[in-house]
Amino acid sequence: MSELAIIGGTGLSKMDKLVVVSKHNIETPFGSTSAEIIEATLDDQTVLFLPRHGEKHTIAPHKINYRANLWALHSLGIRKVVAVAAVGGISANAGPETLVCPDQIIDYTYGREQSFFSDNFLAEHHIDFTHPYTESLRKQVLIAARKNDISIIDNGVYGATQGPRLETAAEIKRMAQDGCNLVGMTGMPEAALARELGLDYACCALVVNWAAGLSEQDSILSEIEQTIESGMTLVEQLLTTLIKQSGSA
Ligand code: HPA
Repeated sequence: MSELAIIGGTGLSKMDKLVVVSKHNIETPFGSTSAEIIEATLDDQTVLFLPRHGEKHTIAPHKINYRANLWALHSLGIRKVVAVAAVGGISANAGPETLVCPDQIIDYTYGREQSFFSDNFLAEHHIDFTHPYTESLRKQVLIAARKNDISIIDNGVYGATQGPRLETAAEIKRMAQDGCNLVGMTGMPEAALARELGLDYACCALVVNWAAGLSEQDSILSEIEQTIESGMTLVEQLLTTLIKQSGSA
């Protein structure tokens, strides 16, 4: 079984290059996963793939069963998760089509199930979350980008908002003051849950629009539409290399 799982986000609900070996339908103590988990091969490496918004992108960010998704992947024996995310860009160097591998998170979400231990909490269930992403896995993402000549910013603060609406201009201004470079709706509690299970976790974020109030364009939504397809092709290219190199890491 594979050690690596990819959680696909908006714009990446499947990866065409993968050869599907089997599909896992897993019921967890926390309910059902967003979709069947695809077990696939690429060359001689295996990988698991799970689209977090469901196969047909019908699950809103605040309704995703993050606990079931992470629990199921862990129960299948994986040790590393690379999360793909379409995000808004806040800092000047993070315009549409930029790839970023963030190294920090600020969590603005609320009302989501944030822990596997909510009901039976013990002191040992606190996690050290100083560094929310796993440095060794971030490095593998960056190496895969370099091998493809894909430019990627190697750090950044991901601000996780509740959604499903986009932010107001004032909210983005505040997030910029807080130090956020990116804004997305699915970064938390996914990262914290991965840490609770002891999984390595990194994020490959594709900027698909300027965050609210930062663009000359009339419509953020049409900006997202214009960017997402070509950008995700790059992400897929990067992931293909990442999967191929996953056996040697
Ligand atoms: N805000 C929040 N989430 C997003 C955005 C955004 O501007 N773009 C893509 N996901």
